[in-house]
Amino acid sequence: MPSVDDHRPGASPEHPDLRDYVSWHAAYDDPESSLSVRLRHVQRAIIAWLDRISGPVRVLSSCAGQGHDILGVLEERGPQDRARVTGSLVEIDPTNVAIARRRIARLNLALTVVESDAGTTDAYAGLAPANLLLLSGIMGNISAADIERLVYVSRQLCAPGATVIWTRGAQDPDLGPDIRRWFERAGFEELSCEEWIEGTGMRVGVNRLVAPPQPLRPGELIFTFYR
Ligand SMILES: C[S@@+](CC[C@H](N)C(=O)[O-])C[C@H]1O[C@@H](n2cnc3c(N)ncnc32)[C@H](O)[C@@H]1O
Repeated sequence: MPSVDDHRPGASPEHPDLRDYVSWHAAYDDPESSLSVRLRHVQRAIIAWLDRISGPVRVLSSCAGQGHDILGVLEERGPQDRARVTGSLVEIDPTNVAIARRRIARLNLALTVVESDAGTTDAYAGLAPANLLLLSGIMGNISAADIERLVYVSRQLCAPGATVIWTRGAQDPDLGPDIRRWFERAGFEELSCEEWIEGTGMRVGVNRLVAPPQPLRPGELIFTFYR
């Protein structure tokens, strides 16, 4: 079962070994899995964001997978929230894209799923800026330099005062302290950072943009998955 302990010892930025990211989602079927634990905490952070911001809001989820986080929350919320949330999920795997699209259609949500490579700024043209940026399940699968770049580029993806929800497990090397510092330096204040969640190595951070946003600069590489 995939978890933060799934080190894939052979995988490194120099020696990529990509997972099957459709079957990866099967861990969400087990409510006891560390991924399900993480999902519940990401969803709590989304709910807290929804509760503290009123009116129409835009969401942008990078490497959204099947969209369990935002779609799960909106499935549980009332029609008012479902109507005021618009935005996009960016995902590269066509099967995951199809699954997310089916759920969005069933819930009649005003969200679109864009099948593209979220690792370049080109992917976000017309999708940014967002009031909520979801970066769940990315930072454990890209190099430290790519994580740092993603944190700084987030300023291009965010509307003024936007919230970013990010995850990074405690697997070696534990980059959590670096990521928290990069967000602060990039102009995002920390609202919370839960670590070792429910006895797992999972970490969920919530930051808010306090610096002015930056315009999107197309044509820049942000990250490459290596596992
Ligand atoms: C670890 S999963 C996380 C999925 C989801 N965000 C979650 O937390 O449940 C990573 C997802 O990123 C997708 N992915 C990998 N590289 C990508 C890329 N360059 N652009 C867009 N999606 C990508 C994978 O197909 C997979 O669905």
